[in-house]
Amino acid sequence: KPKLVRTLAALRRETARWRAEGLTYSVVPTMGAIHSGHTHLVAEGLKRADRVITTIFVNPKQFAAHEDLDKYPRDEEGDVRKLGQAGCHMIYLPNPEEIYPEGFCTTVMLGGPARAGLEDKFRPHFFDGVATVVAKLFTQTGADFAMFGEKDYQQLKVVTRMARDLDLPIEVVGIPTVREDDGLAKSSRNVYLSKQERQQALAIHSSISHAAERIRGGLDLQSAMTLATRTLMTLGFKVDYVTVRNAETLAPPQHRDEPLRILAAAWLGKTRLIDNVPV
Ligand code: PAJ
Repeated sequence: KPKLVRTLAALRRETARWRAEGLTYSVVPTMGAIHSGHTHLVAEGLKRADRVITTIFVNPKQFAAHEDLDKYPRDEEGDVRKLGQAGCHMIYLPNPEEIYPEGFCTTVMLGGPARAGLEDKFRPHFFDGVATVVAKLFTQTGADFAMFGEKDYQQLKVVTRMARDLDLPIEVVGIPTVREDDGLAKSSRNVYLSKQERQQALAIHSSISHAAERIRGGLDLQSAMTLATRTLMTLGFKVDYVTVRNAETLAPPQHRDEPLRILAAAWLGKTRLIDNVPV
């Protein structure tokens, strides 16, 4: 059974004990509503270190006023059980004041991949909130490795860049997306989909996978993006973006032979889905 800690003092006490024993550990930052995408990160964390800490904190600073902060799925008991089964040693569920104490007023300011015109364009303060909480979780836990999913590809690149730029003594590790049998990326927000939307949702992965295949087959980038966008629109998605970018910087590609990533975000009814694939 994983150990539950809710204060920074308790977290520091426990991690100091591991350090005294010469143990290494990974951290898996999450907002809870644990699914097999998260538990896969725990398993990958275990491959690299002796112990794993999962953090569960629904970070208010990364939600806009109109977003789903209040109805974000929460299930502490289920989360603890699933994380325990995955081999997680400790769960840090900070009380909000451990993260944002009275008077808190510091934000990490980002550039580069955080200003690529993807998620940042549609969720303007999202990455400021993510980077600020992630920087705190890195320093609070003092972990050797941090496991992040490629599912949130821009987030992975933003956090990797931030850790490097601020010399945070942690290695950020990106892990491929865990998917349902039909290709839909596992997500805590999939529970919002109606039965019919759940059927349609697989098209986001299939359309960008198909576009990647066509690019590998020689189709130009612009035509491939138009094709995928049209497919999604025809199926009733409201498309925020479908775009191909440099896989590291997320800048628009200069040549078709650089490492490329296709990234997409689209709405099905009231649910926003994101996905990405390598070319
Ligand atoms: P959350 O959405 O709970 O995701 C936590 C971690 O799980 C992220 O690194 C995310 O990329 C990864 N993840 C989610 N679904 C996945 C899947 N299907 N396959 C692989 N990995 C997956 O992302 C956040 O929380 C927050 O922004 C956070 C980083 C915790 C900061 O608040």
